[in-house]
Amino acid sequence: MKILHIPVLCDEIIENLYIHNKTTNIIDCTLGEGGMSEEILSTIEDVYIFGIDKDSSILNIAKERLRKYKNIDLINENYINLSKNKKINKDIHNIIFDLGLSNYHLRNSNKGFSFDSNNILDMRFDESENLTAHQIINQYNKKELLTIFKEYADFPINSNTNKFIEHIFQKRPIDTCENLKKICLNFYRNLPYNKAIQNITRIFQAIRIEVNNEFENIKNGLENAFNVIEPKGRILAITYHSGEDKIVKNIFREYKSNNNIEKKFKLINKKVIKPTFEEQKTNSSSRSAKLRIIERVI
Ligand SMILES: C[S@@+](CC[C@H](N)C(=O)[O-])C[C@H]1O[C@@H](n2cnc3c(N)ncnc32)[C@H](O)[C@@H]1O
Repeated sequence: MKILHIPVLCDEIIENLYIHNKTTNIIDCTLGEGGMSEEILSTIEDVYIFGIDKDSSILNIAKERLRKYKNIDLINENYINLSKNKKINKDIHNIIFDLGLSNYHLRNSNKGFSFDSNNILDMRFDESENLTAHQIINQYNKKELLTIFKEYADFPINSNTNKFIEHIFQKRPIDTCENLKKICLNFYRNLPYNKAIQNITRIFQAIRIEVNNEFENIKNGLENAFNVIEPKGRILAITYHSGEDKIVKNIFREYKSNNNIEKKFKLINKKVIKPTFEEQKTNSSSRSAKLRIIERVI
């Protein structure tokens, strides 16, 4: 079993968990290879984790990695269903979202996430879902492509973005990740290479968000988390780009200032928590990470 993902902001998550005086029950909504959960299991004495991931292949890795622990339940599910899942049958004291994708997806799967792979464009975390990156690139109309590049990758609506989309249209059909990367590099050939790669990273990010309906999932997942979290319990969310962070920030603010007299929430950190320079140096995937935490007061 080869582990590819180094968990991000692990110490900061553990320091900020609400520790219950009996067993501390946690939902790890994005278990991945299980790195974050393993740290929690080995650090906190009396803890129980429900580890969710919608990708069954990564869950198998977590299963093997965590097999010595009896106090974790692995659940192959979309986290938007966390409040409906019958397996989650305990009071919940902490809910963790570590958003985005794992290095496992980039480096070691045939799922077509990485522009350095020669796989067919795919990008589905859950292979039972229908929409693939291949369909988006080859079947979306110009307006639909413009919308996802604007909404999910902050591309401006201008003539250059329109020309880029026209370029994609002319090159269709586009089958593999590598092929799409080459077509993009050709379009951005007058830019410095690292600038072109930054644009390509954002293009792949936008397609991935669309394939997996990520922004809607974050909203629904957080709404569900607010429904199930116990008093004094905490919701902890790590984001990796501005689109994700904006959603978390807005929903946390909304709950902080709501007028529901039965449930009150307060922000634990007014400013986002970022990885230390040390962590950023040793784990480059952590560089853009931001952690926000909210607590249910009553
Ligand atoms: C950044 S990785 C998590 C890494 C993990 N914390 C670790 O330490 O290894 C994000 C994970 O969330 C999963 N995921 C993405 N969207 C999901 C959803 N809607 N429901 C459940 N899992 C999801 C992905 O399959 C991926 O494994």
